[in-house]
This record gives sequence, structure tokens and C-alpha cells, in this order.
Amino acid sequence: MSVFKGEVTTLPPDKSISHRAALIGALADGVTEITNFSGGFDNQSTLGVLGACGIPLIQEEVPGPWGGTIRRVVIESKGLWSFRPSGVPLQCNNSGSTMRMMAGILAGQPFGSELVGDSSLMKRPMQRVAGPLRDMGAGVELSESGTAPMLISGTKELRSIVYRLPVPSAQVKSLVAFAALHAEGESRIVEPVLSRDHTELMLGLETLELDGDRVIVVPGRRRIEARPFLVPADPSAACFIVALALLAPGSEIMIRDVCLNPTRAAFLDIMIAAGGEISIENRRTVGGEDIGDILACGGGALEPLSISDPGVVARVIDEIPMLAVLSVFASGSFEVSNAAELRTKECDRLNALAVNLQRLGCLCEESPDGMRVSGGVKVHQSPVVAECFDDHRIAMSFAIAARATGMAIELSDSAVVGVSFPNFFALLESLEV
Ligand code: S3P
Repeated sequence: MSVFKGEVTTLPPDKSISHRAALIGALADGVTEITNFSGGFDNQSTLGVLGACGIPLIQEEVPGPWGGTIRRVVIESKGLWSFRPSGVPLQCNNSGSTMRMMAGILAGQPFGSELVGDSSLMKRPMQRVAGPLRDMGAGVELSESGTAPMLISGTKELRSIVYRLPVPSAQVKSLVAFAALHAEGESRIVEPVLSRDHTELMLGLETLELDGDRVIVVPGRRRIEARPFLVPADPSAACFIVALALLAPGSEIMIRDVCLNPTRAAFLDIMIAAGGEISIENRRTVGGEDIGDILACGGGALEPLSISDPGVVARVIDEIPMLAVLSVFASGSFEVSNAAELRTKECDRLNALAVNLQRLGCLCEESPDGMRVSGGVKVHQSPVVAECFDDHRIAMSFAIAARATGMAIELSDSAVVGVSFPNFFALLESLEV
């Protein structure tokens, strides 16, 4: 069995904050400087789309605070209506955040646009995008099955909206907020279940508590002043390194400067409650976001995980593949419910987990909104292939289990990790002692 030790200062910058920093920079008036922008393919897709829409931006490598280099992006824009027709379809590749959030912005521009993606993104549901944008007065056309290509007929006459989110989705919340910035009057977004709140924090929007719901108030046609952003390390990437440490006895890994925004930190809370030896040090607030260092040590017994609270599911949605694999390898079982949203991600993650855990000998029962795994993993004579389904988080979850336990699990597609974590394999190598 391998042991992993060391200090991680090269975790990818947060994917959600990087997308938003670039988009808000494009909507702002003035020069936006983003320090520590992510080099993941998804965030690069957002820059590609902004460039294709005529937003002037540069990306360069500059010295980082821990040695090495980090990315700096500088965007120079002239406010909400700086976008220009691209003349070609806007390529979002694998990035749902790029497609959905750009749709909100393009709905408010006085021209037509087409958004396309790779084979995974072209299967993901987009009715949730079209509904509110049509209510606000934009035209949105989708395929018969409600997927991209998405044709948007934008308008400068967008109407304000009071929109109650039908699913807990920060992407939908954000695209409605971005559209509402272009609308006449004040909009309100009602959120029954809290999802990640970076958009409202970064735009400085007022939030209210009304009858148990959270309400985000978006004033229309307000000038957004350009401001600098510093992107912390991605907690959804950190979860893989924490899981590596927890699964490999004797391991001890310190991860620096991670975003600990409470809407993103449920993975850590769940693993601490399950017995994981994890501590948070050096907590501080930078640019409105909580950040800190995570120390994770391996070897202790972990309780099996069972997750059902919809609020918790929303706050841990991207970490569920790793939680499931971690729980099964550490304790032999895992259970989740109220998580139908997992079927709408880069792949159907409930099914992808079931297919791969079955290959490893586990008993898996799927339900429309969850799954139950029991029976534990069986040792195989020959390597087991984990099917990645074009999904970076499925690939990384099984790669971590393989590295930590020494089990022969091969990924069907290891390159897909580059969507959010380009240095994933190099980092694992550097931590192995
Ligand atoms: C994201 C929101 C979540 C998450 C995705 C990033 C965001 O998607 O799964 O990886 O940055 O807003 P949904 O909004 O579809 O839940």
C-alpha cells in the first residue's frame, strides 16, 4: 500500500469562481484583473467564448505566491452591452457552466447567438435555461429533446422576473441573475434550497430570508464597476486529495489556500463526522470568500456514509462521486437519495458509479433519485476498467481509489481529468513517498 505525504500549493484554482470572475469582468465597466485563473479546459472554454464575442482579454503566466507560475487574466470591457455577434457557433466544449451562464448574458444582447458543446454537453438538459429566459422576453430554441444546440435571440428589452428555482442549481440561479442585470427594473430569484452562492457574493447582491426561502435581489441595468478577483484553490479538487489521504494509512497531506465557502465545504463536514482525521488551519476571508488550509491524515476507520438531506446534497453535489467511492472502499457501503440532479451532470453519475462499482464486485441498487451500494469491493486477479463516461469527476474518483489502495483499476479515458484538474496525475506522483 502506498503512503502520500506533502504540501499541496498547486491545486487548480476554483472552477466556479474562475467562470464567474471572467463573466463578471466582461459585464463590468473598466479593467478586471483575475489572479490565479484556472487552466482547466472548462474555464478556458469560457475565455474562448468571451473572446469569440469580442471581449478584449489577455491571459499570461506570472510568478505565484508559492513559487512556480499562476495564470493572470485581464479583461477590458465597457459594461453590460459590450458583447458582439460572433458569426459562428460558440463552442462551450464540456462546460455546462459556460453554456448556461453565457445564455443568460446573450439573452440580454440585441443579436442572435448559437451555443454548442461536446457530445456530453449536447445531451444535458437546457429547458431549465430556456424557461426563465423566455419569460423575460428572449427567444430560446433547443433540440426536440430540450438540449443544445441552443439558439438565442437576445433583446435589449428584457423584462425583470420573479423566478422560483425548480431545481437547486447555481448555474440556473446565475444565468437568471446575469440576464436580470440587463433587464428593466428589479428581479428576484427565490431559492428554496441554497446552492453555491459565489455569483451573489461576487456581484455584491442583496439577499433576503422570506418564508424559509432565500431571495436574491438583482437590480437591472446597474453599472458594474470593474474590480480585481483572487481565485482560491478549488474545494471540489481538494476533495480528491483529502480522499487519497484518508484512504491510505500513514498519509499526511496539507492543502493550502482552499475555498471554504460554507456552500462548498460539506464534503469536509461529512468526512469529519464520519471519523476522518481532517483539520482546518489558517482560516481567513479573502475577497468575500472564506479560505484556509486543510490537513488530512489517513488510517482511521470511517463510518459508512448515507446522505439524504436535500440541502446537504446540493452543497456536496460535485463531491458525491468521490464520497461514494471513498465510502465503499473504506466501509463497504454507501447510500444517497434526493440526488436526481446527479443524472444531469457531465454524465449520469448515479449510473456511472453503479456500473463501475458493480465491475468491482459491489452490489448496487439504483433508484430514480439515488443509489445504495453494499457488499464492498472484491479483489480481482486482472485489472478492472473504470468507464469514465466523458466525466472528469468519475475518472478522478476511481483513480484515487486505485492509487490509495494499490488495486489495479484502469481508466477508460484518463485525459478527461483536464476538464478541471490538468495536473492531477503529476500531483499524485509528487505526493507518493
Ligand atoms: C456549478 C454548479 C453546479 C455544479 C457545477 C458548477 C456552478 O451545477 O455541479 O459543477 O459553478 O454554478 P448545477 O447548477 O447544474 O447544479
